[in-house]
Amino acid sequence: MDLLSDRLSRIKPSPTIAMTGRAATLRAQGRDIIALSAGEPDFDTPLHVRDAAKAAIDAGHTRYTAVDGTPSLKRAICRKFSRENGLDYTPSQITVGTGGKQILFNALMATLNEGDEVIIPAPYWVSYPDMVLLAGGSPVIVECGLDQGFRLTSHALEAAITPRTKWLILNSPSNPSGTGYDHAALRALTDVLLRHPQVWILTDDIYEHLVFDDFQFATPAQVEPRLKDRTLTMNGVSKAYAMTGWRIGYGAAPEPLIRAMAVLQSQSTSNPCSISQYAAEAALTGPQDYIGQSRLEFQRRRDLVVAGLNACVGIECPVPQGAFYVYPTIRDLIGTTSAAGTPITDDEAFANALLEETGVAVVFGAAFGLSPHFRISYAASDDQLTEAIVRIRRFCEGCA
Ligand SMILES: Cc1ncc(COP(=O)(O)O)c(C=O)c1O
Repeated sequence: MDLLSDRLSRIKPSPTIAMTGRAATLRAQGRDIIALSAGEPDFDTPLHVRDAAKAAIDAGHTRYTAVDGTPSLKRAICRKFSRENGLDYTPSQITVGTGGKQILFNALMATLNEGDEVIIPAPYWVSYPDMVLLAGGSPVIVECGLDQGFRLTSHALEAAITPRTKWLILNSPSNPSGTGYDHAALRALTDVLLRHPQVWILTDDIYEHLVFDDFQFATPAQVEPRLKDRTLTMNGVSKAYAMTGWRIGYGAAPEPLIRAMAVLQSQSTSNPCSISQYAAEAALTGPQDYIGQSRLEFQRRRDLVVAGLNACVGIECPVPQGAFYVYPTIRDLIGTTSAAGTPITDDEAFANALLEETGVAVVFGAAFGLSPHFRISYAASDDQLTEAIVRIRRFCEGCA
């Protein structure tokens, strides 16, 4: 009898975590590596948040809490939704988990039956299809190419919906493309969804605060209140407050779904870390100027990276509206051979050759369901970004 379950064979390890691990191994071997593969801000968690965590420890908040979040954190999340998104929720419509990742996982595990379909626009965050598969559902991938700004259109959505469709997963701004859906782009989709009452919306708003230029963030339940009773709005503190390691994410949805997700959590991890919950509450209720500062810093780096990549032979890099990623195409490099003799047959070959030959770690587009592209996370220092672009430019010039 096999030790491992059939269920596990449906999924693979996260390619972004794998690439970051490969870069770390090469660095440990003494190679000069610039890792632009990880998806986390390179800033410190704000001081008042760290202080709140220390105070929570000293006050003895070190025990189990309510399974899906303390009442006071849930109230703070309700205030956040009201203040920033114009959405009114009660604490019983809020769930808190160990990162946004657990919220998504709980929602899919709690709702999917064998064969239920989940529409996932590509390029997508690597975990969505695998979470759907693990929960027994069928991912329905809809490719949204560069020519449509990596955005799902109302036509493509309409064509993908069947009587088995249970969820549409939306992520704006997107990991990996940085594409944002403004109010009008969301309205086009919500108009379609109004006609299909069996479809629920899972909106991953984790990059809400990292938006640039004059882009205005919007979220589906705000754009179309008639969809609020079939929307799970997911968010968290990881990206907005540089708190990836604290592991706090949250969701807002109708009470029956929230209760089902809490049952699942009660039989898996129980409550998210008590100290992190106090820290998250301080982040959501304290001064918000940190967000504006990190947004400006990321926008500056985005401009540096987009300009640098567009100056590379064979690369075309669109300008993203948010997050801290760019998703350039290498269409014109496919079929060439690198200076060291590696055939660039696809984007995975490109990313591997780039790492081996120049020490720059990026993630290949196939991992996100749309080729031929690669993703750079520009949550790195100016020096690292500038040097990485020099190396990428040299690598591309060597491809013939
Ligand atoms: C699109 C997207 N959703 C969710 C997450 C998970 O965030 P958390 O750290 O809150 O689990 C990430 C993290 O990389 C992400 O990029």
